Amino acid sequence: MSLKNQPPAQTATTANANVQWGGRFAGGPSDIMQAINASISFDKALWKQDIAGSLAHAAMLAHVGIISKDDEAAIRKGLTEIGAEIAAGDFAFSEALEDIHMNIEARLSERVGEAGKRLHTARSRNDQVATDFRLWVRDAIDGLDQQVASLMRALAQRAQEHAADPMPGFTHLQTAQPVTFGHHLMAYVEMLARDRGRLADTRRRLNECPLGSAALAGTSFPIDRAMTAELLHFDRPTANSLDAVSDRDFALEYLSALSILAMHLSRMAEEIVIWCSSPFSFIRLSDAFTTGSSIMPQKRNPDAAELVRAKTGRINGSLIGLLTVMKGLPLAYAKDMQEDKEPVFAATDAAALCLAACDGMVRDMTANTRQMRALAGSGYSTATDIADWLVRVLKVPFRTAHHVTGRLVARAEAQNIGLAELTLAEMQAEEPGITQDIYSVLSVDASIASRTSLGGTAASNVMAQATRWLDALAGTPIPTKG
Ligand code: ARG
Repeated sequence: MSLKNQPPAQTATTANANVQWGGRFAGGPSDIMQAINASISFDKALWKQDIAGSLAHAAMLAHVGIISKDDEAAIRKGLTEIGAEIAAGDFAFSEALEDIHMNIEARLSERVGEAGKRLHTARSRNDQVATDFRLWVRDAIDGLDQQVASLMRALAQRAQEHAADPMPGFTHLQTAQPVTFGHHLMAYVEMLARDRGRLADTRRRLNECPLGSAALAGTSFPIDRAMTAELLHFDRPTANSLDAVSDRDFALEYLSALSILAMHLSRMAEEIVIWCSSPFSFIRLSDAFTTGSSIMPQKRNPDAAELVRAKTGRINGSLIGLLTVMKGLPLAYAKDMQEDKEPVFAATDAAALCLAACDGMVRDMTANTRQMRALAGSGYSTATDIADWLVRVLKVPFRTAHHVTGRLVARAEAQNIGLAELTLAEMQAEEPGITQDIYSVLSVDASIASRTSLGGTAASNVMAQATRWLDALAGTPIPTKG
């Protein structure tokens, strides 16, 4: 609604007290009260979960004899028809009815009369919304989990393809040691696997059913909470009614997991931006994931990657926003908690879009393996291999070997040449024990091939890891690392 041209504090009219709770009210809420109070504009997203929760509640009420079988049948029919109405876009959502719970319940009474009015026995909107929202977050976790798995698969496939292709490995964004492009991509697979683990943990803790906690204290009716929990595929009912209606930990854990996931995607996006900048030219993004400049015809802009990087802000903001809503709320329910949904919906949309964009970019990108190989050997990237040779062959202590190598790098740098171009005499001037054999460790390929330690960048390791993950993602159990 628009508040434009409204008097600032419109007074209530006596005409339209709320049909659901207006019994003790002489008048209806002001427009401003209605505007600040209503959540239907966004919580209509919970309609499927709300209907599922009500169906389970009605089945339980009938099972224990609180309502008749006939009433349950009427409720079931009515709710099913309402579901069809909403799915078809034929449902008239009303702001006066505040939220999805009262919109559906009011419509049910309209459709099936008295039976509909019995549905709210032994429950409250407080346990209802807590249940609906858990169901929604559970579905969202399942959807995002599939997307994360798909991105992991895309990365592992590209890693197999580039298991032996060198690229410069960086620390401080300074060339450090050669690695393979496949190894670099597999680093993200490990990160994303932890993200899936966090989502799975969240799901496991979330999977308790608040329904039946009622407003805050439980109910005097002989309800069967185990039955509703089971019908809604929860592991068990929640144990404390006060906690059950005031707890939003599941939403916070979910947003925390999404924030960490978004941070990973943002790092990947940042690398994509760097890699496809012309000074690097490590990769080329496909036309499908690139935009042009309206003024510079030569430009290919990685907007999708930049937006993945940026949407992290929105996801982190959702977490901070909800943490701030929840801190300091006394038990049990308070209307502040209605502000829990929008951040969760927004973060879910953003995460789903970011995952899809990363998936597309990774699957479509072309690796410029010649450029990566050329740069992999620059910046004295095999200096550590000289130090390691001195330790391994001449038994020089590593710290001494590091100094000798540093002097060799300084010599090469002074002549603007690579380490492999230093003569044996120049090498021996720094360490007389050096033999021709040292040149065997100076190539990029030799450096990479030597890194066979567990988790190291040797092509054989990368191939084994990528294959292990692809097998695991295809449904076979994940073997132990190694
Ligand atoms: N729309 C409300 C919410 O999202 C539902 C619960 C309302 N409960 C209440 N006692 N007013 O939190």
